[in-house]
Amino acid sequence: MLGNLERVLFDEPAINRRLDELAKQILNDYRNRELTVIAVLNRSLMFMADLLRRIPLPLTLDCLSVASYHGKAQASGQVIFKQVALPDVIDRHILILDDILDSGQTLAAIRGKLETAKPRSIRICVLLSKKKQRARHVAADYVGFEIEDEFVVGYGLDFMEGYRNLPYIGVLRKELIAQQSNRP
Ligand code: IMP
Ligand code: MG
Repeated sequence: MLGNLERVLFDEPAINRRLDELAKQILNDYRNRELTVIAVLNRSLMFMADLLRRIPLPLTLDCLSVASYHGKAQASGQVIFKQVALPDVIDRHILILDDILDSGQTLAAIRGKLETAKPRSIRICVLLSKKKQRARHVAADYVGFEIEDEFVVGYGLDFMEGYRNLPYIGVLRKELIAQQSNRP
């Protein structure tokens, strides 16, 4: 799988160091609040598991599953929620965990939907944020790493559902994405 990467961006020790820092920040901010973490699956699975084990607070955890990419390396702009009911979050402080802030469309849709469930507050935590002009303005309160506008895989992030199990994050070779987008 390494052969399909242009380069590795963040190896395991780099990810672990950053998770330690993020967890400390979150722990400080939520020390006296009723925290509900809402993780977006499947992509934030590794991030969620590794981050939450570093946050010794009495939090509750819910997961949302959305489809926003439809298997390709470009956003379609449409976000489909795969579950019928929203978690019960009235009066709770919500922290949304997601893999990456790209166009912003997915997180804008998720935040909008969760707002209808009347939580006390909503914050967003992403592992990665691409430096780019976004289609929807979304401000992440906690960001693991800022990256250039390149397609990355690993540590939960996929291309055509592959590469999620890589323990590091790398930039996918552009030819692989181009080949896929040329298919009918
Ligand atoms: P959005 O464009 O901000 O709505 O991002 C939607 C989703 O697309 C993200 O949560 C990721 O799961 C996926 N995505 C965006 N950029 C990348 C990338 O570089 N690699 C893998 N998945 C990505
Ligand atoms: Mg994906």
